[in-house]
Amino acid sequence: MSEFEFCRLLSSETWPLRAKVLWPEKEPGEACRLAVDDQTGVLHFGIRRQGEVVAIGSFIPQTHPELAAVNYRLRAMATDLSCRNMGLGRMLIEGALEVLKSMQVNGVWADARHGALGFYARLDWDVTGASYDVPKRGRHRLVWVRIDD
Ligand SMILES: CC(C)(COP(=O)(O)OP(=O)(O)OC[C@H]1O[C@@H](n2cnc3c(N)ncnc32)[C@H](O)[C@@H]1OP(=O)(O)O)[C@@H](O)C(=O)NCCC(=O)NCCS
Repeated sequence: MSEFEFCRLLSSETWPLRAKVLWPEKEPGEACRLAVDDQTGVLHFGIRRQGEVVAIGSFIPQTHPELAAVNYRLRAMATDLSCRNMGLGRMLIEGALEVLKSMQVNGVWADARHGALGFYARLDWDVTGASYDVPKRGRHRLVWVRIDD
């Protein structure tokens, strides 16, 4: 049996890894809360190793303005540096998409950091359009996947 477990998380359980991996200038508490974190339909998933959260991703009901059928948004996806390239990001996305499919979700999009584009491409997400700046976070591109076929 794998030592890693896919699971649902409370929003607050994602905050330490958000700070550690994504937003190092923030304290790993309330400062890492997204305004949408506890809205209806928002799902936080994680991978745990012996209880410790080592990967996170939050899925938010939000249709992309230019991709009408793609109606969930992935935010704050991260794997702890000590656990990279072990398949945990894939495990999290695949587990989450299974759950979202069962909820009749059509697709998922994200503003992806340039450094992560290869990860999404490897998972067969589309990498689309021009690069754009996200303040403080650098260059990003739109990535998305349909899950309704
Ligand atoms: C991007 C990130 C979440 C990937 O997590 P991970 O757990 O290391 O990913 P996995 O091990 O599941 O990788 C799945 C596949 O993608 C590939 N991959 C992972 N990261 C990659 C990258 N940055 N570039 C290219 N390919 C990548 C892996 O080699 C693997 O390929 P395989 O299936 O052929 O073996 C992680 O690197 C991370 O947290 N980065 C910093 C934060 C970040 O950029 N988050 C995304 C914000 S949009």
